[in-house]
Amino acid sequence: MLDLIVRNATTPDGERLDIACRNGRIAEMAAKIEGSAKEEVEAGGNLVTPPFVDSHFHMDATLSFGQPRVNQSGTLLEGIALWGELKPDLTVEAVRDRALRFCDWAVARGTLAIRSHVDICDPRLLAVEALLDVRERVKPYIDLQLVAFPQDGYLRDPNAAGLLNQALDMGLDVVGGIPHFERTTEDGAESVRRLMEIAAGRGLMVDMHCDETDDPNSRHIETLARECLRLGMGGRVAGSHLTSMHSMDNYYVSKLIPLIAESGVAAIANPLINITIQGRHDSYPKRRGLTRIRELGEAGVPLALGHDCVMDPWYSLGSHDMLDVAHMAVHAAQMTGMDDIRKMFDAVTVAGARVLGLRDYGLEVGANADMVILQAASPFEAIRLRPARLFVIRRGRVIATTPPVNARLNLDGRTRSIDFTF
Ligand code: FE2
Repeated sequence: MLDLIVRNATTPDGERLDIACRNGRIAEMAAKIEGSAKEEVEAGGNLVTPPFVDSHFHMDATLSFGQPRVNQSGTLLEGIALWGELKPDLTVEAVRDRALRFCDWAVARGTLAIRSHVDICDPRLLAVEALLDVRERVKPYIDLQLVAFPQDGYLRDPNAAGLLNQALDMGLDVVGGIPHFERTTEDGAESVRRLMEIAAGRGLMVDMHCDETDDPNSRHIETLARECLRLGMGGRVAGSHLTSMHSMDNYYVSKLIPLIAESGVAAIANPLINITIQGRHDSYPKRRGLTRIRELGEAGVPLALGHDCVMDPWYSLGSHDMLDVAHMAVHAAQMTGMDDIRKMFDAVTVAGARVLGLRDYGLEVGANADMVILQAASPFEAIRLRPARLFVIRRGRVIATTPPVNARLNLDGRTRSIDFTF
C-alpha cells in the first residue's frame, strides 16, 4: 500500500507527473499512477519542488527582536553591541523556545533543511546546549546542521579555541570561523589555517563567515581556498558572505575566482542581509556589498543562498521565506534572465542541498519523499509571487498546509477572483 500519491504536479523542469511515496521514499514518478494510497494530494498542475534549503542562518539569535531594544541604525556594529547586551540574559530555555517557534515558521514556508551557526564564545555554551536539543526535537521534520561559530574571533577571544573544541565534542556538525574579525590580517589567515586543520583532523565540513566587509583588501577567501587545496577538502568547505569581493579590484578577482573554483570551495551569499548591512560607511555611490554571484556561478563555483537572520539584532524583518532570499538575489545581483532566475531558485533548493552535503534529497525515485507544492506554475512564478506553500510533505506525510491566496474584486457590479498567476 502506498502512503501518499501527489497527483498532477508540475516539476521545476515543466513535467506534469503523479508522485507516489512509500516508507518515506519516492516510490514512483509517472504521468499517471494507478491505484490508491492512504492519502492523496491534488496538486492541480501547481509546482512541486524539493524542499527549500537555508544554507546560512543564526538560530541562537532569531526572534529576539526588541530584546533588550531594537537596532535603530540597522548597522552591523549596533547589531553586535545589541547581541552583547542580550547575551548575559540568555537561558537555555529561552534560546530553545525561540528556535522552535522559528522552526514552525520554516516548515510552514517549506524549508526543511537549515544550516545554523551557533555562537560558541559564551563560556556557558548554553546556545550550543539549546540548539543540540532543538536539532533532536526537529529531526522528524527538519535536517538541522549546526556550525561551531566563534563570533568574537577564534584568536581574538582567548577562550574561543577551548570552547570551540568543547562545542565540537558536544556534537556540533561543522567548523566555523570569522577571519575578518580577528585583530590583524595575519591573525585572520592564521585562524583559517588552524580551523581548517581542526576540521580535517575531525573529518568535518567547514563554513566560515569570510570577508563579510566592504574592505577591498580583505583576502581570507584566498587563504580558505588555498588551505582547502592543501588539505584536499574540496566539496566540504564553504565561504559565507564573501561581500568584500563586491569591492575588490577586478584584476585581482580575475585570479581569485578560478582559484576558488579549483579548490572546490562553495560560496554562500545572504542577499537580504548583505544588501542592508554592507556599504554603511559609504555616501554615494553606495556599494551594495553582495558577492559576485553571476561570475562565481559562471566559473562553476557551487553557489547557495542563506536567510542569515529573521527578527534579530541584525535584521528586524523576515518570516523565513527562502523565496524572499531568491527574490532579493535576482534583484540585487541583477540575475533577471530566465536562466538566471532558475539558478537563484536552484540556489535555495538543489544547489543548497549539494553544498550542505544532504543525502537522498531531490525529486527522484528512491530519494526522501520530501517536497513542497506551491500556488505557482514554475520556479519563475514562484520567485515572482512568493506564493502560498499549499502542501509541505516530509517523508511522504503532509506536515503543513496553507490555503491558496486569492483576491476578490468587486468591480463593475460583479465579483471575481484573481490569484496573480500569468
Ligand atoms: Fe551569518
